[in-house]
Amino acid sequence: MPEMGNSLRAAALLAFVVLSILVSLLISSVQQFGARISYFSNATVAGDEEEFASLRGALIYQLNERRKEIIPLLSPDYDDDDDENGLPGESRRSLHSDQTQDSILDYSLWNEITHGSRRAHMDEMGCDSLVDMQAVEILGSGYTKLVVKVNLAGGQPVALKLVNEQGIDMGKCVEDFRDPRGCRELVSYKLKKEIVLLQRLQHPNVIKLKGHCAGAAGGGGGGGGGEDGRVTVILEQGNPLQMIQLLQSPWEDRFRVCLDLVRLLHFLSQSPLGSVALLDFQPRQFVTVSGELKLTDLDDASAEETSCQRDADCTLQFPHRNFTLPCSAQGVCVGLNEKRNIYNAYRYFFTYLLPHQAPPGFTHLVDHIMNSTGELKADINQTLEAFEHILLLYKSGLHLDNLPPSIIRDYTVMRGMGTSGNAEYRCWPSYSQQGCVLSVHSAREAAFICNSHSQCNSFTLTGRKTWTGRLLASFSSSFSHLVPDGTSEVYVKKTKAPEASTV
Ligand SMILES: Nc1ncnc2c1ncn2[C@@H]1O[C@H](COP(=O)(O)OP(=O)(O)O)[C@@H](O)[C@H]1O
Ligand SMILES: [Mg+2]
Repeated sequence: MPEMGNSLRAAALLAFVVLSILVSLLISSVQQFGARISYFSNATVAGDEEEFASLRGALIYQLNERRKEIIPLLSPDYDDDDDENGLPGESRRSLHSDQTQDSILDYSLWNEITHGSRRAHMDEMGCDSLVDMQAVEILGSGYTKLVVKVNLAGGQPVALKLVNEQGIDMGKCVEDFRDPRGCRELVSYKLKKEIVLLQRLQHPNVIKLKGHCAGAAGGGGGGGGGEDGRVTVILEQGNPLQMIQLLQSPWEDRFRVCLDLVRLLHFLSQSPLGSVALLDFQPRQFVTVSGELKLTDLDDASAEETSCQRDADCTLQFPHRNFTLPCSAQGVCVGLNEKRNIYNAYRYFFTYLLPHQAPPGFTHLVDHIMNSTGELKADINQTLEAFEHILLLYKSGLHLDNLPPSIIRDYTVMRGMGTSGNAEYRCWPSYSQQGCVLSVHSAREAAFICNSHSQCNSFTLTGRKTWTGRLLASFSSSFSHLVPDGTSEVYVKKTKAPEASTV
């Protein structure tokens, strides 16, 4: 019995010890927690100040980095003043990252490059032009910018690019640096870079810069509203590229977009800045102006060459393809920017727009382009040649040589006439929603098309032309009247002439 009492006592003692250890642990962790809370509440003010100072420092660092990015893009006359060595572009570029060169990156830089003699001839509109403008609609927005259509006081429509306050760039910056004003200035550097690039990369397939305003947009008066980092870019107004709509357009219009793109890439491969790559290459970075393709988003354009030691350093990586390009004896990847652009043109544009419904005479030429760009076998000169060759054939009608000339004899022609009361039928892809309007090289091609449509009994060459100079022909089953029309010609099938054709 006493043994049992002893072991009971020992068990109770052990339980007591364990319990007290647990309680003391609990107490100490509660105390530590409390201590931490009080530490934090005491340290909040000092910590916040420290944190804000370090965030501010980081933001200033970023601002300087953005400025440094713009320097090499400035026109040579900017460099002339401080370029005593007369170094060529490449060496100059590397010099700019030196400490000594950093000293020139003061806050007045922007004023220097955008006003007075620095101001490019084309960039004429300023803040004054925005007085009494009227906002019409939002044309688009992206990670960085908001684009608004406005009518200027004289009624001229233009597109204004501003910092997108709701964009990813602003959102991320404010989250990182908690300084909306500083962030607006940081994001504005992308607009500033774009202005400089638009000044230097003038081309029919780059959106036209009309001017810019440093300071609040439409801020009620000239003078620029002081340098608060805000920038408004004034551009010619285009229509955002609608891929879905383009997919339903005639081949001729889709070919035009691809040709314009190739002409642009050809220019970019030997631009005043060197070979320029478009790092963010997507249809949404382009607009059309009267059917002509124009690049509008340039802030991700880069003229940097990739340095290398061996070929393996020169890889182009895409989601489904990788390419390796040669590393030159000088240690740069040969044609990397150019090839990157070509493959992006292939994957974002050509695959969707080019092969589908290409005229039969061009299928082999289109196949060749698809193969040489998709496999990066051709450079941009060869690609442009292939496109221009197709355009030449298309304009001249040489690809239609195998159409029998006699085909037109099946039709009676009435020159200086049009038709009314047409019984229309629809075809695809038609230039008109209601009827069947297609582009043709000649009456002979129109006759060939009419013969291939079971509903077609007549067609009218309207006198209207497409961008290539081809004629618009309107096909119909029948019509009730012929009407005088100096610009058009009516062709009626001899075998099935419409009954009610009276003048
Ligand atoms: N000149 C213009 N005319 C009409 N729409 C435009 C014009 N410039 C840009 N846009 C539209 O605005 C969108 C945003 O412009 P963008 O420069 O691409 O900004 P981000 O750099 O933020 O992508 C474009 O995707 C395009 O649809
Ligand atoms: Mg964009």
